[in-house]
Amino acid sequence: MALAQTPPMGWNSWNVGLNSNDYPDFSNLTEKSILNQARAMVDSGLLAAGYEYFVLDDGYQNARRDYRGRLQGHALRFRAGIPALIEEVKSLGLKFGIYSVPGSLTCAQQYNDYVADGLGSLNKEQVDAEAFAEWGVDFLKYDWCRAHLNDGLFAKETFAKMANELGKTGKEIVYSISEYGLFKPHEWAPEFTQMWRTTDDLFANWDSILRTIDLQVDLYPYSKPGSWNDPDMLQIGNHGLTAAENRSHFYVWAILNAPLMVGTDLIKMTDEVRDLLTNRNVIEIDQDWGGQQGRRVWQGAEAEIWAKPMSDGSLAAVLLNRGDRTFIFSVNADTLGREFASAIDVPTGSDLAISGSAALEVAAHDSMLIRVR
Ligand code: GLA
Repeated sequence: MALAQTPPMGWNSWNVGLNSNDYPDFSNLTEKSILNQARAMVDSGLLAAGYEYFVLDDGYQNARRDYRGRLQGHALRFRAGIPALIEEVKSLGLKFGIYSVPGSLTCAQQYNDYVADGLGSLNKEQVDAEAFAEWGVDFLKYDWCRAHLNDGLFAKETFAKMANELGKTGKEIVYSISEYGLFKPHEWAPEFTQMWRTTDDLFANWDSILRTIDLQVDLYPYSKPGSWNDPDMLQIGNHGLTAAENRSHFYVWAILNAPLMVGTDLIKMTDEVRDLLTNRNVIEIDQDWGGQQGRRVWQGAEAEIWAKPMSDGSLAAVLLNRGDRTFIFSVNADTLGREFASAIDVPTGSDLAISGSAALEVAAHDSMLIRVR
């Protein structure tokens, strides 16, 4: 079984449920709203573009487990129950992902008032893995949530425990872990997970995007088919980000071979956002494995170039303008790390008609994604 040979792509409910203060609000997290998102994922062309995992994040749970000790959907918001929801979502052609945590408290439980006993999978790993497998779950997001402080757990052995239980079910379940880069996950997570969060939560603002990008610089040696660095879900389309910032965010995630988990409201999504997220040329860069994840190859005061080899021998590069003014990039053998005879603008596929060296202008907070040969 070779899972996640390309970076997983999908949609996740979490970012949609954050209000403008980045605070979770579950009142709209209902069976009905979730199914509407799933339908929109198909209707908008996201599934056709490769986004296949539909992931229900924290906040779906009932305050109590059922009589068999299994997790269940919130009694009022998920009346038909999680198994029925999964069946419905999967009937649309999507794969289903679910959320749990290794400790006793989920992250949202720690600052929300829907506190109950036993929502986390602590000491219930087998019960939960078996239930997920029986329900047809294809993806598990397993989220640390301070389990070292709340429950005195150690990250590696705790995450390995669930990997073991998932393995015992015999089902192909992508295992996505999240401990925000606290315990050097890149050193051990590749052994038994398909993706691990490298960093803390990404929010829909330019500072958060830049801070997250900076923390990826040294991680390129750890990614490979089947095990991916995860700089967190996409905030593209969410409050606070401009069109230029959405582009930069997407192009850098593509150059990092990052899992692409859309985190916007698919019903309210603009055509501009949909066109960006479904741009096949950009997605191709993300999904292609040329032997190494993208890395920073040139750095100026407020601009940088990130590049990665493509499997056809070309080189993909993002010219990222972090600053508040237009920047003119010198693109040449020194800044790219290799010579080039031709270049295309990836999103449009158009020939840039440059060779050897060129000056390319990029607006504030914007980026260009190019592919040179
Ligand atoms: C953490 C994770 C988020 C989300 C929430 C859920 O903050 O990093 O991605 O899953 O928990 O509570």
